[in-house]
Amino acid sequence: MNIIKVKNYEAMSKKALELVIHQLNMKEDSTLGLATGSTPVGLYQQLIVAHKNRYISFKDVKTFNLDEYIGLDRNHPESYFSFMNRHLFEHIDISEDNINLPNNDINRLEEDVKAYNDLLSKNTIDLQILGIGTNGHIGFNEPGTPFEQETFIVDLDMKTREDNARFFDSIDSVPKQAITMGIKNIMKANHILLLASGANKAEAIKKMVDGPVDITHPASVLQLHPNCTVIVDEAAASQL
Ligand code: PGA
Repeated sequence: MNIIKVKNYEAMSKKALELVIHQLNMKEDSTLGLATGSTPVGLYQQLIVAHKNRYISFKDVKTFNLDEYIGLDRNHPESYFSFMNRHLFEHIDISEDNINLPNNDINRLEEDVKAYNDLLSKNTIDLQILGIGTNGHIGFNEPGTPFEQETFIVDLDMKTREDNARFFDSIDSVPKQAITMGIKNIMKANHILLLASGANKAEAIKKMVDGPVDITHPASVLQLHPNCTVIVDEAAASQL
């Protein structure tokens, strides 16, 4: 793991921007793996600015998102489909045909899982952006998920639902399930870029970097990835 320590959230986002720009400069038609949550929002804002200043284009870029809630309509403001449109896609020149998120149609979830997994097996992600849960999850691969797991339907941990309750009226409105890329899909990416900011991530980062590689802390699997970069701010790195 290549660990880059920076001062704060803004510096984390700027450093991540440099790496994404480097990737797009190397390969205009890169395939990016994208994450939702608060962590990558600053990076997305910077990418929008870089695009508006004509430093980068997404014209030939393809994207795959990690996950989507089950039980929310895609047009619900807190669906990850809406999140990505709001925070990135509607501000850049990406083609709609190149955007991929798992479908979450409750009447055909098994087909949706298979379709997304098939799509992932036909595409190689050049750069996968990840956040980390306070419980060590990556994507929505909660503690206990086997490392061989491919795309699946996950029952969200209570901890994850509590952490994400800030986006909803109450904890009861937070979905109980999601469709997520599995750990195996994530590990296939050529380069993984994990971002973490804030003291509430410090323990999860410590276990990811120094702990045993174990399914009880899913992010620890990244110790086995040949090309993983971690950008952490001072607070998130405070236990390293
Ligand atoms: P956050 O979520 O960026 O909102 O902290 C990270 C995650 O759960 O992976």
